[in-house]
Amino acid sequence: MRRAALVFALLAACPASAAEPVVFDPREVQAIQRHGPWPQPVLPDRSNRAWGNPAAIALGQKLFFDSRLSGDGTMACASCHVPARAWTDGRPRAHGREPLARNVPTVLDAGRGRWFGWDGGSDSAWSFSLRPILDARELASSPPRVAALLREDAAAACLHEAAFGAAASDEAAMVNAAKALGAFLATLASGRTAFDEFRDALAKRDAAGMARYPEAAKRGLRLFVGRGNCAVCHFGPDFTNGEFHDVGVPFFAAPGKVDGGRYDGVKRLMADPYNLLGRWNDDASGAAATKTRHLHSTQRDFGRFKTPSLRNVALTAPYMHNGSLATLADVVRHYSEIDTERIHSHGEQLLRPLGLTPGEIADLVAFLETLSAPDAMDVPALPPVVAGCRVAP
Ligand code: HEC
Ligand code: HEC
Repeated sequence: MRRAALVFALLAACPASAAEPVVFDPREVQAIQRHGPWPQPVLPDRSNRAWGNPAAIALGQKLFFDSRLSGDGTMACASCHVPARAWTDGRPRAHGREPLARNVPTVLDAGRGRWFGWDGGSDSAWSFSLRPILDARELASSPPRVAALLREDAAAACLHEAAFGAAASDEAAMVNAAKALGAFLATLASGRTAFDEFRDALAKRDAAGMARYPEAAKRGLRLFVGRGNCAVCHFGPDFTNGEFHDVGVPFFAAPGKVDGGRYDGVKRLMADPYNLLGRWNDDASGAAATKTRHLHSTQRDFGRFKTPSLRNVALTAPYMHNGSLATLADVVRHYSEIDTERIHSHGEQLLRPLGLTPGEIADLVAFLETLSAPDAMDVPALPPVVAGCRVAP
């Protein structure tokens, strides 16, 4: 009798969800399958004639880590995109020569993107790369400076010649450097995660494989594809629809200063001499520029930011375009308690306060933590010789 009462008391103390193993119904299985398979192919960027060229990739990798690319020789791309921090800097907002208004996103899997930057202000990885090169707050470099580096460094000069031939001007040399960076970025594809293993085990009904995935992550995944509505925007194998939304993150960049997000991004893209409508686009067919040609800015874009991929998200704190949320639990709580009054743009009716319990918040975080690839911090190995050029010092 006493024993039965004790068992009853123990059962009552445990929430049912924590005790029962998660079994996904067919609709959930289908929703989960849409987040794979992984890896996915990286499509060639036809606007970049050096895409996939080994000499350009090696040149891009060298330039990414070379502080001589900057005006005063003190800052490289890797100063902010630090491999050991999953290619971010771990700060709320970037710090160049002066503080910037936005958080540093990872460049892992950036080669799969359509628009670049939180506001999508660039339409290719290579044209984006020109922004930090030229921005006075970042590398503060110039066409002559970049051209000189490509002439004076023996390895860079050899790789540049092999990938692009002779450059007609300093500006052409600088654009080549950006295209080499773009070719390198396209190789930064992140590997398989615990989630990918689970997804494939689920498809094959491999019970042992499924059992290896933590129960808390399964409960979080159920919320992610179900009641949380997360997968509507964090869609597909990349966990992003590549579109722009307002999820209620305040867009005041500083007192009296507003970050207009996508609204400003479209304007910036249209004014960019290096966009795909310009003469530096290598795609003679014009197909690569289609998405840019059809773009126009509307007031609705105000305060919208790009849906970030969630791959490796546990490695890239803090979060959001302005780094305003320190942890994944803070992000999930933000969605749980979202203030819909604060959402500026129309059409985000998807978002409503979810009212998650502390246990459900922990489950969603446990799920997000399974999206990290063990190779997210790895720097690709450079062969000693590429295209006849001695690359290693
Ligand atoms: C001072 C810090 C800093 C430096 C240096 C820097 N970046 Fe960034 N990077 C950022 C920030 C901040 C963003 C987000 C910018 C935005 O949304 O406007 C970003 C975004 C990007 C993106 C877009 C990623 C995406 O998914 O949208 C790419 C690609 C990128 N950087 C490549 C580079 C390259 C290549 C270099 C060197 C030429 C470089 N960055 C140098 C801070 C930096
Ligand atoms: C309406 C589309 C939409 C929905 C629904 C949505 N997100 Fe997001 N998510 C975004 C956008 C856009 C951002 C970036 C917002 C910003 O920086 O202002 C973001 C940012 C994030 C980030 C931070 C990533 C980073 O690198 O900074 C995480 C984590 C995240 N969302 C998880 C979730 C989860 C979990 C759910 C479901 C509870 C969810 N999202 C629902 C669009 C959405």
